[in-house]
Amino acid sequence: MSLMKTHKTLQVAAPSALGPMTPEEAQLLEKLDLTRLPRHVAVIMDGNGRWAQKRHLPRIAGHRSGTQTARSTIETCARLKVEALTLYAFSVENWRRPKTEIDFLMQLLREYLRKEMPLLQKNKIRMRFLGRTEELPSGVQNDVREAMEQTAGNQGMVLCIALNYGGRAEIIDAMNAILAERNGHGERTAITEEQLARHLYTDGLPDPDLLIRTSGEMRVSNFLLWQIAYAEIFVTETLWPDFNRARLLEALLEFQKRERRYGGIREGDASDEKPARVAGQ
Ligand code: FPP
Repeated sequence: MSLMKTHKTLQVAAPSALGPMTPEEAQLLEKLDLTRLPRHVAVIMDGNGRWAQKRHLPRIAGHRSGTQTARSTIETCARLKVEALTLYAFSVENWRRPKTEIDFLMQLLREYLRKEMPLLQKNKIRMRFLGRTEELPSGVQNDVREAMEQTAGNQGMVLCIALNYGGRAEIIDAMNAILAERNGHGERTAITEEQLARHLYTDGLPDPDLLIRTSGEMRVSNFLLWQIAYAEIFVTETLWPDFNRARLLEALLEFQKRERRYGGIREGDASDEKPARVAGQ
């Protein structure tokens, strides 16, 4: 659950962690409080097609360029010591796209995993894949398995790639897993939020505190429906291939300006009173 605190010691990045920076990035980084970053950032990487269209390029050129943005976002979040980053790479609805585009996206992901493994290892990133991965082409399944195995011992940021992912499908999968466990045990107790969360693909991860969506659409698009219950949503007009490090730092700064109340009231507005109830109780 969102309000549940895990007892992991807070790791804070040094301001120098990002290495050489542009003056704009340095200015943004200076304003950022590195002790108050989101624990989990989730991203809907939208706008690759539009980016390509604007340049009279085929859509796949937009996806290729988007992979570079994924690379810089992953490295920046890892260096800032964000605990988890989830990228929405392919939804259950994306099978409706032309076969050539789907094949290209799968190929791009496989290429990414092969080429970027040294960088992932160097940054101690642990990989997870969220979604019905068992329905992916067998070559992709193998690469996904290998990437998880190769990075399983890493203690840094958890990088989740949502692949053949749907938020509703995830909740259904969790419910069915609970039912399967209960079969034969005659258990009739109610399902709790904690129990459901334990059966989601994101088991063990904090819920996203920040959801970023590029290219302006005000939609959640079936992404992490359960987990984003209390997430701050940041929508930018910037198309995904243009979402560089400075734009990411801006999103993090915007997150720090928001006041998170989890359904309560502003701190100090009733400082003499204890909450009547604690969430989930
Ligand atoms: C949405 O843009 C983007 C996707 C469906 C694919 C995202 C995939 C990548 C960025 C590449 C691989 C990812 C990783 C993690 C290496 P769109 O095509 O819907 O854009 P549009 O709305 O402008 O048409």
